Amino acid sequence: MAQDWIVYTTSAASTQQLGTMLGELLQPGDIILLSGDLGVGKTHFAQGVAAGLGVKEAVTSPTFTLVAEYDGRLPFVHMDLYRLYADEHGQTLTAHALEQIAFDDYLDGQQVVLIEWPRGVMAELDNYLWVQFSYDAPELQETRCIAIQSEGIDAALRLEEWKAAWA
Ligand SMILES: Nc1ncnc2c1ncn2[C@@H]1O[C@H](COP(=O)(O)OP(=O)(O)OP(=O)(O)O)[C@@H](O)[C@H]1O
Ligand SMILES: [Mg+2]
Repeated sequence: MAQDWIVYTTSAASTQQLGTMLGELLQPGDIILLSGDLGVGKTHFAQGVAAGLGVKEAVTSPTFTLVAEYDGRLPFVHMDLYRLYADEHGQTLTAHALEQIAFDDYLDGQQVVLIEWPRGVMAELDNYLWVQFSYDAPELQETRCIAIQSEGIDAALRLEEWKAAWA
């Protein structure tokens, strides 16, 4: 894991904008992992990514469906795996849970895959951007700390392009 980048946003709109800048430069097969507490801003960021990929449809949280697919400049797959951990209180997802959503089928290199609550699948992946959200000081209610790392060569390239676009 390399190349930490830390961004602070001070509104939901700027978190979305950060996602849009990334969405504009993503390539087929790119994987984005979003970690952080409930309500910290992962889905707002995902909506920005979708906009940057040219998705016209409204993107909502796939908490109950687990996976949602959208058409944009590239196919965009939005997953929220939160519910798959609910019974386990563990760190890993069972093979059964992953088969249930045909997880491996999405890793064919043709689509952009964004995953909220990814801790149970990270070990299977070797090329991704990992975006970790946290709250800042309690009095700064709309400030978020967003720490980004890349794993793999393609993701490292995308991170450099993203930084340059945001600068
Ligand atoms: N800087 C910010 N960036 C993102 N969201 C913010 C920010 N400031 C305030 N918010 C608010 O925080 C909430 C983020 O909700 P969102 O659904 O994106 O979180 P989430 O991390 O996807 O939650 P969950 O874990 O339930 O999926 C929204 O109500 C949004 O308006
Ligand atoms: Mg969410």
